[in-house]
Amino acid sequence: MNLWLAPAGLHVARGEVRDAPALARLHAGGFFRGWPTAEFEAYLADPATTPAYVATDAKRTIAGFALLRLADDESELLTIAVDPKRRGKGIGRALLAAALSDLTMTPVTTMFLEVDEANGAAIALYRRFGFVPVGTRKAYYPRPDGTAATALVMRAPIG
Ligand SMILES: CC(C)(COP(=O)(O)OP(=O)(O)OC[C@H]1O[C@@H](n2cnc3c(N)ncnc32)[C@H](O)[C@@H]1OP(=O)(O)O)[C@@H](O)C(=O)NCCC(=O)NCCS
Repeated sequence: MNLWLAPAGLHVARGEVRDAPALARLHAGGFFRGWPTAEFEAYLADPATTPAYVATDAKRTIAGFALLRLADDESELLTIAVDPKRRGKGIGRALLAAALSDLTMTPVTTMFLEVDEANGAAIALYRRFGFVPVGTRKAYYPRPDGTAATALVMRAPIG
């Protein structure tokens, strides 16, 4: 099994079904609309289609994760989230680097993602990895105040 080094004494490993509760918790800490644990269990049970990467310590305490979807030669970053207490230490970068390096071994040539156009931290992270905006989706993310934010669609080549 592949392992990648990560900052703060962590490493990145492939996500497993047992990680579903931790991923649901981290996701709820990063987004207004959380996803139920059962949804993560379904993704984690199908690593060929929806591989996940977790930044973890030796005791499997997970500080962040990234979840992808693969379809033919395209991939999508479904979501990425780091524990709010552990942000800004390079964990998000380590997760994305592990996922992108893994994909260089596959027929996947492109990664897409959607991000709230107001999410400067995430957009800066994606730009660092070569993602460029290719479009927008209006009224895509529901906000707590009842309005909806525009999503930026970004794309990066693999490899
Ligand atoms: C986006 C997120 C995953 C980044 O994780 P992180 O571990 O804090 O990020 P890192 O420390 O690895 O930072 C990587 C890069 O992201 C950018 N970045 C991270 N935090 C930033 C901030 N607060 N402001 C501006 N840029 C920031 C920088 O470019 C940074 O690179 P640098 O350190 O060389 O400058 C994290 O902020 C998060 O979980 N946010 C909530 C969920 C979310 O918005 N997910 C993305 C939705 S599409």
